[in-house]
Amino acid sequence: MNMNPDPRTNIIVADPERQLSSVHDSLGRPLHDLRISVIDQCNFRCPYCMPEKNYAQHYTFLKSSEWLTFEEIERLARLFAQLGVSKIRLTGGEPLLRPQLPELVKRLKNIDGITDLALTTNGSLLMREAARLKEAGLTRITVSLDTLNQDLFRKLNGYKATLDRILDGIKKCEEIGFKTIKINVVLQKNINHHHILDLVRYFKNRKPILRFIEYMDVGNCNEWDPQAVFPAADAVKIINAYSPIVPMESNYYGEVASRYAFTDGSGEIGFIASVTQPFCRTCTRARLSADGKLYTCLFARRGIDMRTLMHHK
Ligand code: 5AD
Ligand code: SF4
Repeated sequence: MNMNPDPRTNIIVADPERQLSSVHDSLGRPLHDLRISVIDQCNFRCPYCMPEKNYAQHYTFLKSSEWLTFEEIERLARLFAQLGVSKIRLTGGEPLLRPQLPELVKRLKNIDGITDLALTTNGSLLMREAARLKEAGLTRITVSLDTLNQDLFRKLNGYKATLDRILDGIKKCEEIGFKTIKINVVLQKNINHHHILDLVRYFKNRKPILRFIEYMDVGNCNEWDPQAVFPAADAVKIINAYSPIVPMESNYYGEVASRYAFTDGSGEIGFIASVTQPFCRTCTRARLSADGKLYTCLFARRGIDMRTLMHHK
């Protein structure tokens, strides 16, 4: 199945006739979530995201002078908050490679209207950074982790880190008391789908919430193959057969994860069926790149250059 590269129009309109208080796009979808990339570099080379062969020495990442400054990010975040954004997620590349990131967390925490601030990381720098992030006011953290098999883990990150380092980082987050810790598992058929129950057993009865994500086509670089998608519905069946789970109510409009609870009371688990059950109709997200381009869809090719617009004011 191929994804429409531009499912969301780039035009965001406020519509006085329909008395919309916040901005909506031309399909009537409100903008509630902003994903802010703070750096395009990553210390991993996951084959489905930054395969070594495309991102080796000759690949040119942004220069630090091209990054939005913290002042600029804060200014944009304030404007978006006024337009109805209440949730911000910091991403990369690997966001913890951005120097002084806790400083940005502090600034965003203080913005009126931002009620939810989260961060997605590959976990490799959590041992060093988790405490500082917590102190700065971050309450929600998501760690990407596709397997508990040491060898496969190394292969899946381009041989850049060992599994223990990530597991220690996750434990550290539990110890210092992050309110929400999520573990993102991208499922690929015949690569890691048979590791689902290892992950379930490892995290059952613990704080982190597992979320199984269908492998998506995120551009041409990852040589996406529809055959490699492992349907979320199959993951539900496997887990349910091991330990029964029941669907929970969704938390809010536009929530992408289908949430399930273990009937034995040992916690929650989520599934993101972005390929087999696309949720574009209720999408509430926009994305800001590290150099200030605003994209109104994860798959959009064209972005609006906010940095230049700010520099002209
Ligand atoms: N399909 C699904 N998820 C992906 N991620 C990166 N590439 C893909 C893909 N092709 C996930 C990472 C991380 C989050 C930022 O996106 O594993 O958890
Ligand atoms: Fe991409 Fe995340 Fe892997 Fe880095 S750790 S290469 S950003 S998927």
